[in-house]
Amino acid sequence: MDHKVILITGAYGLIGQTIAKAFLAQGALVVLADRDESRRESLRSELTADYGEDSFLLQTLDITEEVSCEDAIRASVDKFGRLDVLINNAAIDAKFDKTHTAAINPSRFEHYPAALLRQSVDVNLTGTVLMTQYACRQMLAQGAGHIINVASTYSLVAPNQSLYDFGNDVQQFKPIDYIASKSFIPNFTRYVATFYAKEGIRCNAIVPHGILNNHDEAFLANFAKLSPLGRMCNREELIGPFTFLASDASSYMTGSVLTIDGGWTAW
Ligand SMILES: NC(=O)c1ccc[n+]([C@@H]2O[C@H](COP(=O)([O-])OP(=O)(O)OC[C@H]3O[C@@H](n4cnc5c(N)ncnc54)[C@H](O)[C@@H]3O)[C@@H](O)[C@H]2O)c1
Repeated sequence: MDHKVILITGAYGLIGQTIAKAFLAQGALVVLADRDESRRESLRSELTADYGEDSFLLQTLDITEEVSCEDAIRASVDKFGRLDVLINNAAIDAKFDKTHTAAINPSRFEHYPAALLRQSVDVNLTGTVLMTQYACRQMLAQGAGHIINVASTYSLVAPNQSLYDFGNDVQQFKPIDYIASKSFIPNFTRYVATFYAKEGIRCNAIVPHGILNNHDEAFLANFAKLSPLGRMCNREELIGPFTFLASDASSYMTGSVLTIDGGWTAW
């Protein structure tokens, strides 16, 4: 990982921050790119104190805007000279922890608003494609690079909606916008992997699931019943798999989907 240049989109969020700090601790040079500027300055202070300002770059990025994607790639090259790994991590995700559940539109599928579907497709699907296009232009010029797409178990299987039934007369649902926009990630990964296989660019996907983050007891109990391992994932448990993919240890992998789901999709 030493001096590998890694750009992470959605880097100020839960998974983005976890892996960015882990990569920095392992000697990588990290571009943390996100559209949420409110968290930038506190993160800058923390990372400067822990890793020094020469090892990271905080870049404002909206992956739905082509100019912004192009700027982020250019900023990486300007500061670090190249881009070795792009991690497409930014997404809109309806999360059922104590902070986010109230914001989720509770509509059943037959009434789910098309505007919300379009918004998620714009970020999770179109934004991921745009960012990948600009990264590939740079990686082609370098003759090497690796794209890692962050998928979801809901890229592979349907949600078991009983996970979101908390016995309080208001059945919640994992909405269709997330499933529709994330389902494309595995096949997009295979598309990019095979398109560029002879040109030095690899592409793989990783499937996290159920990262523990201030969930309430009802959710934890439902999750434990449906999970073969019987628990949610601690964020630190993603560091090994992400490091494996981002490093040369995965050099013979392309077009693969690495599942870190506690067995969720195994039954
Ligand atoms: N947390 C989980 O349990 C879980 C499980 C499976 C998959 N995932 C996937 O992992 C990834 C990260 O999830 P997370 O839990 O860290 O989410 P998060 O909401 O904590 O972080 C996502 C980040 O993306 C940023 N973002 C959103 N739209 C953007 C845009 N247009 N341009 C740039 N940045 C944008 C947000 O500002 C936020 O900081 C997502 O792709 C998600 O689908 C998460």
